[in-house]
Amino acid sequence: MLTDRLSSKKIIDELLDGGVEKGAITNFYGPAGSGKTNLALIFTLACVKESKVAFIDTEGNFSTERFFQLGGQEEDLKNILYNHLSNFKEQTKIVQKLKNTDVKLIVIDSIVSLYRLEIDKDNYTEINKELAKQLSSLSTIAREKKIPIIITNQVYSVNSDEIELSGRDIMKYWSKCLIELKKVDDNRRLAILRKHRSLPEGEKIEFEITKDGIEKAKFRIF
Ligand SMILES: Nc1ncnc2c1ncn2[C@@H]1O[C@H](COP(=O)(O)OP(=O)(O)OP(=O)(O)O)[C@@H](O)[C@H]1O
Ligand SMILES: [Mg+2]
Repeated sequence: MLTDRLSSKKIIDELLDGGVEKGAITNFYGPAGSGKTNLALIFTLACVKESKVAFIDTEGNFSTERFFQLGGQEEDLKNILYNHLSNFKEQTKIVQKLKNTDVKLIVIDSIVSLYRLEIDKDNYTEINKELAKQLSSLSTIAREKKIPIIITNQVYSVNSDEIELSGRDIMKYWSKCLIELKKVDDNRRLAILRKHRSLPEGEKIEFEITKDGIEKAKFRIF
């Protein structure tokens, strides 16, 4: 196993050659229900048994019930520095605070929901600058502390078969690894590697979201 990765010990590691990279920002993006929060929780669990994790929740999506289903224990919660944010300014503040923590993983689920609430035609430039500043700081934190940072990212439709990340070029620039998640059907999800520093783009895996985690999708006869 590569030591520069945080392994989830789940199927998603196969796409990432062992797990999410330490020292970089990994971005899981996709529509509602595509599995972003599940993956964020799975990597949180992979870290929390031994080390502290900062979990920044911008939508109130952290479910202790789901955390326990995935294998988390009551005592693991003590290792989670949980922050529920309600506006974009708070997000800027928490990113600054993260410079001084000793966590071994930072999760922001999602990085753009408060940004999307805040942005309008008058403050567009300023809010985009703020987002870029947050990501620049996160990137420095990841590199200096040699820890993985996982962010999740909503998308919007460009046309009937094309989606775009909220935060677009800013998100694409600062995320060293981009994984697109697609819903295939009720349980089945597709994860596609869209950007990686050391792996070929376009690699895919299919997985199912199950009661206790994610599993390789079962073979299907069409
Ligand atoms: N116990 C479970 N068994 C099977 N599937 C589950 C279970 N718990 C959650 N799921 C599935 O996980 C999916 C939701 O995944 P998740 O919350 O990770 O999506 P998301 O991409 O974060 O969505 P959003 O953008 O709304 O936050 C739903 O399809 C739900 O049915
Ligand atoms: Mg979610």
